[in-house]
Order: sequence, then structure tokens, then C-alpha cells
Amino acid sequence: MINVFQPSLGNEELSRIKDVFESNWLGKGKLVDEFESRFAAYIGSEQSKVLATNCCSEGLFSSMHLCKIGENDEVILPTISFVGAGNAVCACGAKLVLCDVDRRTLNASAADIEKVITPKSKAILLHHYGGIPCDMDPIMDLAQTYNLKIIEDCAPGVCSTYKGRSIGTFGDMGMWSFDAMKILVCGDGAILHFRDKELREKAEKWLYFGLETKSGYENSVAQKWWEFDISSFGHRAIMNDITAAMALEQLAKLDDFMARRAYVHRLYDQELADVAWLKLPEPLPKDCTTSYYFYHIQVLNGKRDALARFLRERDIYTTYRYFPLHRVSGYRISGSFPNADWAADNTLCIPIHQSLGQEDLDLIVSTIREFGEIYC
Ligand SMILES: Cc1ncc(COP(=O)(O)O)c(C=O)c1O
Repeated sequence: MINVFQPSLGNEELSRIKDVFESNWLGKGKLVDEFESRFAAYIGSEQSKVLATNCCSEGLFSSMHLCKIGENDEVILPTISFVGAGNAVCACGAKLVLCDVDRRTLNASAADIEKVITPKSKAILLHHYGGIPCDMDPIMDLAQTYNLKIIEDCAPGVCSTYKGRSIGTFGDMGMWSFDAMKILVCGDGAILHFRDKELREKAEKWLYFGLETKSGYENSVAQKWWEFDISSFGHRAIMNDITAAMALEQLAKLDDFMARRAYVHRLYDQELADVAWLKLPEPLPKDCTTSYYFYHIQVLNGKRDALARFLRERDIYTTYRYFPLHRVSGYRISGSFPNADWAADNTLCIPIHQSLGQEDLDLIVSTIREFGEIYC
């Protein structure tokens, strides 16, 4: 089966993990520190503004506490968002308010967001679909006008920039995921970015039980180093040196990963350009880059599901991301989201990852064409 997403791991990661075993320290340590520092440099920020954690979903949930969002607040999300984002809002007692998206990019615009702002709106939990940057200037203006917090979910957007600046660094908080299905993978892990260093300090405590004092070796011998105090009922959500070892090696390979993904993207663009019943992803605005996480095609003749089945029967796996939150009955959302509905019914993410060989790509393209010849 040709996978839709796939990690690329090798001996470099294994050898770095072996070093961790030999160091006799598996927990949060020097390697987590190094990964934070290198990732911060990679996105053009600084270590004092980032924090590693165990997954991006933890970042979404924690953002609610850190941005002081709770009952009586409303949080706006594009309906095409990750389920963890919807859950994070509902779990803190705030009201989940959804907006429609652009049917081609699946991102929300400032105009989509503004339509659902009310006096209770407290934050926008923005989603950069597949690493394609949202149009940040008007969204940041909106946030200023209405005094809204911005939390950026850029889970797969490790190399995505808007006007030369990494997505995730615009909002009060931003976050990237390194789970098993992303581009830079370490099993599970994430980096959180904070605009204000004070918020980062608060987050550091929150992600470790709200401890006010360091514990263990880091405490001075002048005190009883096993004693502590807390400032909040925080979580325990930290990265460890095993996952950081993997993440560091993956970060070193990221530019090569991007070159390959860009190649795959270009190849689909060229080879599928003349398929009349398909819409290919729109070209990026000139001042943006993407991490090429998805290659999402849109099937114009209502045969998306048939195409997905046809490909799967021929060992080519595809999927659609993300099931719109307004269709999840558990959220009890009413309203109309015509663009998201159209996108959800016609969009298909076809395989894109670093390990796709020329034969795979030729097979994917020819199988899509074959479907067209039979059914379209
Ligand atoms: C858009 C988006 N946000 C957040 C997450 C959560 O990431 P994690 O698996 O690291 O919790 C995912 C995971 O698939 C995602 O796709």
C-alpha cells in the first residue's frame, strides 16, 4: 500500500537514541534543551520564547488555561479544524464558535472570522490548513480591533512562512506537532511558541504540575531539595531526551525533506494539470511558503468517494482532512458553512511524503487518470 503520509527515519536517529541510552538519562535534559534552541533558531525566534511538550494537543488544551479562557468566553475556530482544538475549547467551559473557510485553501479569512465575532469573543484558534499560511495581516488587524487572543495551530507547518516570517510566531501562542504522521517526527512531541516571555514562563510551570520551585538536583543543598510549592494545578507534559534525540536528527534533515516534498507537489501540479474533472491546490501567494503537508485535490463531478475507493483498491491510500466540526453532533453546532461543506464532500488528500519514489508517483498519477477514463 502506498501511504498517504509516512515518516522518514534512519540510522542517524537510531544512533542518537543509542547515545541517550548510554547517557543513563532518558528524561527531559540536555537534548530537549538543544532541540528547543535549534527549533527556535529554525523558525527565526529565540529559545526564551519556545517550550517543548509531549504533543500538540496538549498545547491546544493548555492554551485555554494560559490565555485565561473559560466559561462565558467564546473561541472562534474554522470549522475545518482538528478535533483536539474543538475539544480544548469545550473542555474549558468556553463556547465553541465556528466559522466557514475558503473552499479552495480550506483556511478561514478575516472576513469569515469577523462574521461570527460577538462581545463575548475572547480568542481565535486559527488553523493553517496543511501548513498553508492563513492571510495573517488582516487577521492580526482583526485581533487588535476586537482585542482577541490569537492561538495558531500550525501542527504540520514546520517550514511555512507568511511574508518571510514563520507561521506560529504571529499569535499569542503557536504550536507544531511532531507526531508519527507529521513531517518532522519523533513519535510524539511538539513545540509551543509564545509572543511574550512571561507567558512562556507561566507555561513552563503549567506543563510541570505548576511547580514553583525546581526539584531534585537543581535545588540547592542549603534547602531540603524534596520540598516544593505550586502556583497552579498544572499538568505533566514534557518532552524527554529520547524523543528530542530523534527530533534533532529530523530537524537536520528537514531541508532535504522539504526539497523532496516540493518536488512531489510540482510533479502532481504538472502531471494532473490537464485533468478537467479535478481542481489542484491553488498556487501559494508569492510571499508565502508551505511545508507541503497535504496535496489536496478537489473532485468536481461528485465522485470523490468513488475515486478514493478506486485508489484504495489499487493499494493507494488517500484520506480527507479534516472532518468539519459542525458535522460532529457532540459539539451541537448550528449554522451554515457552505464552503466547508463543499470542501468536505469533494476534497481528497493524495499521498505526499519524502519516501515516494518515481514509480509510486507514476502509479498514483496513472491510476487517477485511469479512473477519469472509466468514470468521468
Ligand atoms: C491540525 C492539527 N492540530 C493538532 C494536532 C495534534 O497534534 P498531536 O498529535 O501532536 O497532539 C494534529 C494532529 O494530527 C493536527 O493535524
